[in-house]
Amino acid sequence: MMYSELLTYLSNKGIRQPELGLVLGSGLGDLADEIEDAVIIPYEAIPNFPVSTVEGHEGKLVYGNLSGKRVIALKGRFHYYEGYELADVTYPIRLFKELGVSSIILTNAAGGVSQDFQPGDIMVITDHINLTGNNPLIGPNVHQQGPRFVDLTETYSKRGIDLLKQIAQAEDIDLKEGVYTWMTGPSYETPAEIRMIQRIGGDAVGMSTVPEAIVAKHAGMEVIGISCITNLAAGLQSALNHEEVIEISQQVKPKFKHLLRQLISQL
Ligand code: HPA
Repeated sequence: MMYSELLTYLSNKGIRQPELGLVLGSGLGDLADEIEDAVIIPYEAIPNFPVSTVEGHEGKLVYGNLSGKRVIALKGRFHYYEGYELADVTYPIRLFKELGVSSIILTNAAGGVSQDFQPGDIMVITDHINLTGNNPLIGPNVHQQGPRFVDLTETYSKRGIDLLKQIAQAEDIDLKEGVYTWMTGPSYETPAEIRMIQRIGGDAVGMSTVPEAIVAKHAGMEVIGISCITNLAAGLQSALNHEEVIEISQQVKPKFKHLLRQLISQL
């Protein structure tokens, strides 16, 4: 895993010492367009970078100022279901670490499993369940970033969770909290799988975020995860489709962006 060439390339483009990493999920990429004094690089132009293929996911690295912080954002992420190795899915996270990022905010669209959730809700991720049977740390350990065996007792920073709850209260945003369950996709879950997830303690389900969170934690970064609940999970509503996921995330976007901007300014 060689970063030096890439770090030089990014440095030559003006990307230096971002404080915060942002990963913007399905339909939530707009926030990257609000980054000021932006350096924008399409993934195709970045040496060694995978290329995103999903509809609704633009592939751009955006660096600049947002809510008073120097941020680096992935507008569009890489998913396991696209056929990438998990090492590729999490490559940008390792890159963020090499650039000096200490905190990372991961966002996604997810299906609501908890009976308390409605489409349009925002959920702060308190923990996760990995139902894929895969792990991005399988393989030789990346010693330069972290240890072989990683403690996931506090994957999602308590500071971040508390701060988000505090902001939501002050801004009168109804913020849910819960456990995110990672399934590979690309098929949505079956109703029986959703009943299983309910029983084992999952509150939301989605096809991303967990590999990035594990790798960020391995690399010693603070992780904050936020889900936009775009639909009720399979069996809890009549049918599921990607158009609805995009449509609801578009509707939630103003609230979502406001919450994120407040969070970024206060981190
Ligand atoms: N399941 C999995 N991933 C998702 C869902 C869902 O219901 N909604 C948005 N992403």
